[in-house]
Amino acid sequence: MKVFVDTGDVEEIREAISWGIVDGVTTNPTLIRATLAKRPGAKIKEYLEEVCRAAGPGRPVSLEVMSTKAEEMIEEGRVLYERYNSIAGNAVIKVPVTTRGVEEGYFEGVRAIRELSSIGIPVNATLIMTPAQAVLAAKAGAKYVSPFLGRVDDYIRERLGIKFSKDDYFSEEMARDDVNDGVRSGVDLLRKIRVIFRAYGFNTEIIAASVRNARQATEAMLEGADIITVPFEVLVKMVAHPKSEEGIKKFVEDAVKANYGELFRQ
Ligand code: E4P
Repeated sequence: MKVFVDTGDVEEIREAISWGIVDGVTTNPTLIRATLAKRPGAKIKEYLEEVCRAAGPGRPVSLEVMSTKAEEMIEEGRVLYERYNSIAGNAVIKVPVTTRGVEEGYFEGVRAIRELSSIGIPVNATLIMTPAQAVLAAKAGAKYVSPFLGRVDDYIRERLGIKFSKDDYFSEEMARDDVNDGVRSGVDLLRKIRVIFRAYGFNTEIIAASVRNARQATEAMLEGADIITVPFEVLVKMVAHPKSEEGIKKFVEDAVKANYGELFRQ
């Protein structure tokens, strides 16, 4: 089971890697835009080199294409891979499973995933909202699929008229079977993809993405996500607990009173 950090911020990447528990990085255009906005003068080309270097060898970094036509996504995927994989051998190309919404064609993403995968470029199929999309991406050869847990929860809550904040936990008990084709939550989406992948022996790894809170991260692990990709602030919440904090205060206090210092003196 692997943990990726979901950020475009190189300082966050360095800090999270220094904790010794981070296995990779995912970015997207929104995250990169937010980071560059905080760094006036930073050039995206060089900045992404820094991101790949900071992650380092053996920690995949997902970098997303920008076009919505298969031919253009394929070209961009090639360019990105060539440029950034040479930095630390860790580039993965993120391709949306469908670009319908911007394009008329439903299958532009799947075609691009197929072509890039067939020339040996590892693809992370992104914006996965249904088990069927995950299967199509896996059949096209994607190395990873990224079901967007939080955004599926958003969609269900919007359809049910439930008010929520971005990091609010959502329980599938609040859902109804008819609002999202039987997928009752983001975690349920992950569960269903896992069942199908196991049944048919797909090797594609499942990245639980769009994880908004620590409880959702735990549920994703319980459902057997191969990888969870988690924003920096959610990683911090995953290690925190008031009773741990209370406990360490008391242990430090009592260690001093019990003369523990003696144990470490030569
Ligand atoms: C994952 O790969 C995406 O970059 C990210 O998890 C999206 O998260 P959001 O839905 O919170 O924006």
